[in-house]
Amino acid sequence: MFEDLQAKATKILCTEYGISDCSVAWERPAQPEFGDLATPVSMQLAKTLKKNPKVIAGVLAEQLAKDSSVEKAEVAGPGYVNVWLKPEALLGELKHTREACTAKVTRKEAPVIVEYSSPNIAKPLGIHHILTTVIGQVIANLYMHEGYNVKTVNHIGDWGTQFGKLYVAWKQWGNGDLDKKTVDELLALYVQFHDEEEKNPGLEVEARNAFRQLEEGNDDIRAFWKTVVDISMREIHALYERLHVHLAYEHGESMYENAMQPIVEEGKKKKIFSLGKEGAFIADLEQENLPPAIVIKGDGGTIYLTRDLATVRFRIDEWQPQASLYVVGQEQQLHFQQLFAIVKKLGWQLPHLEHVSFGRMHFADGKMSTRKGKILKLEDVLDEATERAADLIKSRGDSIQSDDPQALAEMMGVGAVVYGIISQNRKMDILFDWDKALSFEGNSAPYLQYTHARARSILRKAEVKNEVPFPKDADSFSNVERSLVGGLLRFPEVILEARASHMPHVLATYLYQLCQNFNAFYNSEPILQSPEPQKSLRIALTALTATVLKSGAELLTLRVPDRM
Ligand code: ARG
Repeated sequence: MFEDLQAKATKILCTEYGISDCSVAWERPAQPEFGDLATPVSMQLAKTLKKNPKVIAGVLAEQLAKDSSVEKAEVAGPGYVNVWLKPEALLGELKHTREACTAKVTRKEAPVIVEYSSPNIAKPLGIHHILTTVIGQVIANLYMHEGYNVKTVNHIGDWGTQFGKLYVAWKQWGNGDLDKKTVDELLALYVQFHDEEEKNPGLEVEARNAFRQLEEGNDDIRAFWKTVVDISMREIHALYERLHVHLAYEHGESMYENAMQPIVEEGKKKKIFSLGKEGAFIADLEQENLPPAIVIKGDGGTIYLTRDLATVRFRIDEWQPQASLYVVGQEQQLHFQQLFAIVKKLGWQLPHLEHVSFGRMHFADGKMSTRKGKILKLEDVLDEATERAADLIKSRGDSIQSDDPQALAEMMGVGAVVYGIISQNRKMDILFDWDKALSFEGNSAPYLQYTHARARSILRKAEVKNEVPFPKDADSFSNVERSLVGGLLRFPEVILEARASHMPHVLATYLYQLCQNFNAFYNSEPILQSPEPQKSLRIALTALTATVLKSGAELLTLRVPDRM
């Protein structure tokens, strides 16, 4: 943005000082007192040129001030150059912001794989599953928005000895129609198995046999397994719908059953897997400074890591991706380090592989599990959120208006939970606070939603459509107008940064600031009552703000109401 001006600044310095490298880095000052753009370049050049930075800054400011897009340019502090642009120049740049509100057309290039959510079957989704699910979806959304060819993949844990256990439990204690069961009921059977197993160790052997039979393709056990997977996926999809999450590919770990053996053979042949204790096969990763990794158990069985090896191979063969991102909690860091080290050793042509990890979630009130010590279910938390939002709407009486309070409560409640998570730096532990998440004043979903509805309400009163053209020029900007314009101008850069760093909170923080910019503007400037040409300008600013808020919120998987 402002490429012309930046190029000019570079040229000015290069010509003036006869140097070839003086690329000028620009910043956008947070406070309007420092102008629309600022650069510390004089300080950077001072050393090489052995000149006072203020002198260099003075030269640059004087030349820039002559540019037709510049209102004024000043030297500030130890050698900053602060530039104020003419209103029409700023307004012209806003076309980039408007463009950034719609997704680019998907480019035909090597895909980016984003793997997330990846729950295990036959257990309800716990609250912690929301982290991978929404962080992954936001990252995928950001890539898609920029026109990347994105493959969203759910790596479902649908394989392993637990299915043998569940089968044995079902045969012993199950009753009624399997396909009418809920995941909670399946979990109860599983828990019962573990309780009984302590008294009767023979059960464990039975379970292992059952899983072996499943692997061998026994019809009865296969049918059982398939039904269990279907029951789980039905419940999982219902939750995804509430969260506005969608994954294009659902590939169970079971899919890789037959793909593992050739890889194991390849590893043995390349001497990467060697025979360890008790018949297990192990990858030695000493050179990589990692502990050795088991790839085949002593009993010949494969494990989680073996399936991940096959998954990497499958995705390379199927998609020839440019990058493959794994949005998984940091407790699996070692697993991914070992996985990436092994595939590198195997010498495969690899895309960029990245474990996009995140910290643990805590509740500010300390409750992560139920009174009985069971994990909190995601569904229960979303239900609670919707109830809390409904109470909040009621308590606000007439100040909140909605044609469908139930739908608004769901939008606010689910949004509050998601935003409460996504607005925090994923690399840290995530502290979830109900009061903060549902506050109308802070960095929260309701605040964002309310601000959007406020902007829409103005536009309804002004009887304008969503897209309002900007007047060609404006005499001058007040400080709040300038801040709002500055905020709007940052949108394209922010989505780029959030995407490139895989940091959803960068976008959330930005939207919060934009809401603040807008509310400051709303509180200090009359909009509909102002005379022309201000009125048209202010309506256009309001319209673009609403569009950016909606577009940004949707990238974060949130929805915003038109009225509330
Ligand atoms: N199902 C696993 C779990 O719940 C997560 C899978 C992560 N992805 C992977 N490719 N290993 O722990």
